[in-house]
Amino acid sequence: MRVLLPLALSIAMILPAFAAKTHDAPPRHHDEHSWAEPDKVVIRDLGLDLRVDFGKKQLRGSADLALTWKDPAARELLLDTRDLSIAKVLGKSGDGNWRRLQFSLGERDAIFGQKLTIRMKRQYDIVRIRYATAPEASGLQWLEPSMTAGKKHPFMFSQSQAIHARSWVPLQDTPGVRYTYSAHIETDPELMALMSADNAPDASRDGDYVFRMQQPIPSYLMAISVGDLVFRPISERAGVWAEPGTVDVAVKEFADTERMIQTTEQLYGPYRWERYDLLILPPSFPFGGMENPRLSFITPTVIVGDKSLTSLIAHELAHSWSGNLVTNASWKDMWLNEGFTSYVENRIVEAVYGTDLSQMENVISQFGLHAEMQEMAEERQVLALPALPGVDPDEALTDVAYIKGAWFLEFLEQRFGREAFDPFLRSYFNHFAFQSIDTAQFVEYLNSELIAKNPDAVTQKELDAWLNQPGIPAFATAAKSARFDAVDAARKAFLDGRKSAGELLTAAWTTQEWVRFLEGMPEVLTGQQAVDLDEAFKLTTSDNGEILQRWFPLTVRSGYFEARPAIAQFLQRIGRRKLVMPTYEALVATPDGKEFARQVFEKAKPGYHPITTASVEALLAKKP
Ligand code: BES
Ligand code: ZN
Repeated sequence: MRVLLPLALSIAMILPAFAAKTHDAPPRHHDEHSWAEPDKVVIRDLGLDLRVDFGKKQLRGSADLALTWKDPAARELLLDTRDLSIAKVLGKSGDGNWRRLQFSLGERDAIFGQKLTIRMKRQYDIVRIRYATAPEASGLQWLEPSMTAGKKHPFMFSQSQAIHARSWVPLQDTPGVRYTYSAHIETDPELMALMSADNAPDASRDGDYVFRMQQPIPSYLMAISVGDLVFRPISERAGVWAEPGTVDVAVKEFADTERMIQTTEQLYGPYRWERYDLLILPPSFPFGGMENPRLSFITPTVIVGDKSLTSLIAHELAHSWSGNLVTNASWKDMWLNEGFTSYVENRIVEAVYGTDLSQMENVISQFGLHAEMQEMAEERQVLALPALPGVDPDEALTDVAYIKGAWFLEFLEQRFGREAFDPFLRSYFNHFAFQSIDTAQFVEYLNSELIAKNPDAVTQKELDAWLNQPGIPAFATAAKSARFDAVDAARKAFLDGRKSAGELLTAAWTTQEWVRFLEGMPEVLTGQQAVDLDEAFKLTTSDNGEILQRWFPLTVRSGYFEARPAIAQFLQRIGRRKLVMPTYEALVATPDGKEFARQVFEKAKPGYHPITTASVEALLAKKP
């Protein structure tokens, strides 16, 4: 057994980066996914002037970067770009004149893009870059009218996290740098443009729009969308932007948004971003949601009619505190964004919908985490991840940051009690507001503000187990749900042959209970079982993506070919990565299934976002 160490020493043990600040070991703050050198110069404000050209699938215009120089000797500005055409770079001197600056683009790296080096004889306050994006820009998706709900107008949206902002703006593409921004956006007069900024609910649609984001944000929260978008209010400060045919169902489904904001404010302090609106995207949006400030981007696949999937809104809203206000300084500390947010999400769900739902969601999350960790290298199972510069952050997204992160905070909540832990988190968000921090800073704050005042609640060894050891600590308490006990009993009765599917008492089940029911099924069903389930519950024709995401892989493994036409439709209609990948994964396990997957993907691909395309292509390229 290890002897207890004095506090300072044990912190060094928890975070090797603390102890090992030598010349060759970069500090934990360092972002290995960016070329920028924020210790020399940082962007303080950005001014965009862009034309959104649907014909050419191109943004073109200029970006003005207002710079704060930190190193008096620096004469270079290194920026991140990917597939940008840079026409010209100018520097504005104190006399107000613009001077042409020398620049060069480095070699293209498949993950990082190209380094843009701008050289100057003296430190300019503003640098203007004239540029245009490529039609295949990784951070933008251009949709034909046929891929929208209305089918009449084209649509465009950005997805900048983690490192795609650089494909539509030349900038320091690291969450360690924050800046304010303004934008002038021109597009077709019949289309509406929105940004992660001060969208006016009553803006007149004329193709000419201006935006301001007053609060400093990191580059991954830059966002833009253009399409046939209309607004409907939910409350005074919250509302929905969506295509005309979708907006009313969305307002109904997300009617609890204002209550969610108030709940979070009561727990963690004021909402600091003024308005909170939702933008409902077409089904090709590759994620469930994206927490773009003041305007969360939301998949339409959570609109299922009974509000059962609105925890997604709780999640994206929670990022207004965890992530957008207090930001991970680099992607290896992503649990500071996603783990905190998943924890806060669950607290919002509990307060607004009750413990039945929050517990069910927790059990589902922890089940998924365990399943995923079984296939995962141990070094990836830690919260404070090692630097993995060669890894594409899009492919590095795991439940560890989300679910293990949230579980760690639940553990702290249990040990300290809500009466101490809630005010602690509230003061954490306040203390680090509008800053980008690393795990070491969180641990330091935790030690000084919470542990020092309640020294017996947790040990440093326990913290180390959560932050730096693989797996889930043996001393963690697993989530439980009484409603799931009933679901498990129903499944068992069915599998044991004691009851047919139609005899199970499923009438009151919500999405979560169906998910639980399916996740507990064996790897393979008999033909008879699959037919019985499908006839009783019409699973194959469900339009709930959370259910289909579990049912379709089960049908594939069970050789239930009747589902294939519906699978083909599903994979072509929806581009949300989390929903489609499990079915592709099940299909590629057999040669025949893989051939089917290839054929469906060929047809689906023109409608997929580059992020989903990349994941499916990587899967299809994998050797069996
Ligand atoms: N910020 C994430 C989405 C993201 C993460 C994009 C990393 C790119 C890189 C967003 O808040 C998120 O977590 N979305 C989840 C929803 C959630 C309820 C777990 C998703 O899209 O599934
Ligand atoms: Zn998130």
